[in-house]
Formats: sequence, C-alpha cells, structure tokens
Amino acid sequence: MFDLKSYLAGVRQMVDNGLQQYLGDTASDVRIMQAMTYSVMAGGKRLRPVLCIAAAEAVGGQRQHVLPLACAIEMIHTYSLIHDDLPAMDDDQTRRGKPTCHVKFDEATAILAGDALLTLAFEILADTGSRKSADERTSWLTAISEVASAVGFKGMIEGQMRDITFEGTVLSEASLETLHRLKTGRLIEISVGTGALLSGASAKQQAALKTYAQRIGLAFQVADDVLNIKGDPERLGKATGTDQQRGKNTYPGLLGLDGAEHLAGQLINNALKAIDTFDNKADSLRAIAHYVVERTR
Ligand code: IPE
Ligand code: IPE
Ligand code: MG
Ligand code: MG
Repeated sequence: MFDLKSYLAGVRQMVDNGLQQYLGDTASDVRIMQAMTYSVMAGGKRLRPVLCIAAAEAVGGQRQHVLPLACAIEMIHTYSLIHDDLPAMDDDQTRRGKPTCHVKFDEATAILAGDALLTLAFEILADTGSRKSADERTSWLTAISEVASAVGFKGMIEGQMRDITFEGTVLSEASLETLHRLKTGRLIEISVGTGALLSGASAKQQAALKTYAQRIGLAFQVADDVLNIKGDPERLGKATGTDQQRGKNTYPGLLGLDGAEHLAGQLINNALKAIDTFDNKADSLRAIAHYVVERTR
C-alpha cells in the first residue's frame, strides 16, 4: 500500500528547503524579501511541486532534477495567492493560517512581493548553470514557455479576470468549467506536464498525464469550492462562506453540494483511468488524485 503521508512529508521537506535556499537569508531586514518569504514559507500544501516531482518519478526521473522547476511553480502559485487576496480582488484577511500579505505588510508591499516572486520564478527557470547538454537546454526552454503560457493572459490571468468579472452573474456549466480550468487547472496541468517532459516522458506518457492533470486540476477547484462552504476555517487556514458573500460562480452554487462532490469523484476516476497503464512508479500520482478531493485543507 502506497504511503502518501510519508511521501508528502518527504517531498514537502525537500521543496521547503529548496524554496528557503532560493529566498536566501531568513534574517534579512530587506522589506521585500521579508514579505516574499513570509508568504512562501507560511505553510502551503505544496500540491503543485509535489505533482511536478511525482510526475517526474512516474516516468523514471529524479526529483532533484526537477526541483528548480517545482520551486519556481510554487513561487508563481504563491504570487497568485498574494494578489488574489488583495482588496481589489477577493479582499481576504487570512491565508495559510496567517494574516494575508497585504494585512501583515501593506498593499503596495504585497503587490510588489507578488511581482518579485513571479520574476524570481523565471530567473530560477532560466538558470542554465547545471544544464550541460543542448538537448537538456532545449527541453528546459520548452518547459519555460509552457509555464509562461499557462499562467499568462490566456491561462491563469484570464481565469482570474473572468472570476472577478462574472461575480454576481450566473454562468453556464460550460463557462464555469472554462473559468476553473483557466484560473486553477492550467497551473496544475503544467506542474505535471513539465515535470514529466523534463524527465524524458514519451509522447504517449505525456498525453496520458495531460488528461490526468486536467481532470485533477478541475477537481481540485471543485473541492476548493466545496470546502469554502463546508470546510473548517481553522484547518483550511482561510475564511469560508466567502464565495457566496461575493457572488462567485462555483460548482456547489450551480450543482448543489452533492452534485459538486459527485462531479469531483467522477473527475478523479477519469484521472485514474488515464494513467492505468503506468506501473507502480505512478502510485504517488494515484494517491494524490484521491487526496485532491478527500482533503480537508
Ligand atoms: C488555493 O490553492 C488556491 C486555489 C487555486 C484553489 P491551494 O489550496 O493549493 O493553497 P495552498 O498552497 O495549500 O495554500
Ligand atoms: C484562486 O482561486 C486562484 C488563483 C489564485 C489563481 P480562489 O480565489 O477560488 O482561491 P481561494 O479560495 O482564495 O484560495
Ligand atoms: Mg479568487
Ligand atoms: Mg480567493
């Protein structure tokens, strides 16, 4: 039986160490560094770096090899959360069990900390120091391009734009699915996809992993919507009930809680089916798929 708990603990430790190294001196009194470190090290689940590493290992790769990618992705994710919480966006006071970045520091610092994490991520991705061969550099360039397009104006940013624009209106199920795929799905998709790509995945493996990641990416946001209604704010480390207050488009809003939970379960089954020809090196991906919808934080 695959032990997800110890797998997560091991990978999270490695990712946390990597992030801390990239962020440098914890005792720094440079304000922007304090704000960046505060939000990154506030204790997220590290789901995206875990997926990146699990996908690498599923196709026979080494976690050390994709660690810079995993850390860069977590920085981009953290930047997106800092900006998502700003007064002009979701206006949230608590994140990862702590005051949000703009509450702890101030709005200008939070905006700049987000900007700085996004740019640092690409600096890390573009560091060719340890990439010796031309082939290796080419695949890293492809990965960089995939990350950039997933989080840019045709990806996560467009999703965030729609999330804000359509507050207070009721979207169709198809439009809501697109919104969720963009704002949350794309980053999860490329966490898996680039981890596998840099680990020598075949075209067939990449296609299967893409389906897996798209299904769990959507399921992850459905679960986030469900937890916003019935989760424990203490355990989640963020407020609940806020989606309804702000008139957000959510799956429970459209399908009811039972309907949303049923859909999440179906998506996970489809994700598992997509990788059923993989051997036991993909057991971590299988266990993570279950975790995505069973989680309570
Ligand atoms: C929260 O992401 C924002 C969404 C895209 C739903 P996570 O639930 O992964 O947040 P952390 O990283 O664990 O704080
Ligand atoms: C956050 O989505 C998505 C991004 C940060 C890109 P939500 O606004 O639904 O997530 P939470 O509930 O604040 O974590
Ligand atoms: Mg939001
Ligand atoms: Mg939010």
